[in-house]
Amino acid sequence: MHISSKDIEKNGSNVRQNFLRALEAVKKISHDFIVITGDLGHDVDDNGYAWLKSKLSGLKYFVIPGNHDISESLAEGFGLNGSIYDGKIFYKERIGGHDFIFADTSIEWLDIKMLDKLIDRKGKKGNTFLFMHHPPSLCNAKHMDTYYPLSNHIEATEFLNNCDQIEHVFCGHYHTAHQVKNDKFTIHIGPSTWYQIGRKLKKFNIRHTRPGYTIIDIDDKVKVKNYFL
Ligand SMILES: [Fe+2]
Repeated sequence: MHISSKDIEKNGSNVRQNFLRALEAVKKISHDFIVITGDLGHDVDDNGYAWLKSKLSGLKYFVIPGNHDISESLAEGFGLNGSIYDGKIFYKERIGGHDFIFADTSIEWLDIKMLDKLIDRKGKKGNTFLFMHHPPSLCNAKHMDTYYPLSNHIEATEFLNNCDQIEHVFCGHYHTAHQVKNDKFTIHIGPSTWYQIGRKLKKFNIRHTRPGYTIIDIDDKVKVKNYFL
């Protein structure tokens, strides 16, 4: 989202309008809950949390921090003070018989020990779904893989390849909309509502500024589809 406290236009798109357009589209679709996968604010001390909260009021939603957020401020803004451990937001929700884990990677690093504590190792194979801002592995997107990857992506990938409970990981951060299969799990990167980045070039390049969102349909199978306005 990258919302600031002011209504501004950046990189060729109106940041707030783009978010609202995506939100309006999502509201029209029957859903159990919405997940906002990090970088809610753009500047750590000039975020638009109050504005975002007002737009999300009445909806069932969960948030995780991204590298542009400060976990303490986000927790304060969204009532997550009880989910802060060692300065990081980690929590789990059980909905419709599935476990959903929300993990903090705001310092570009995943606390694997903390994640491990939240996983029910006796839980059914593939029945735990992980949301984290950064993709846990490099994702075949040159600019982001080169300059902004998760710093411990090698350890995170190894951990998830040895965790039967998690088969799907949902992320943001890369400003792309694509999926990457690993040995034992799939990474689903959802688009930004601000702008999308091309995957082929190492240098920063905006592919388009249409806001996007992802629909995740969990039934016997897991179906994931990205949409752009
Ligand atoms: Fe990010």
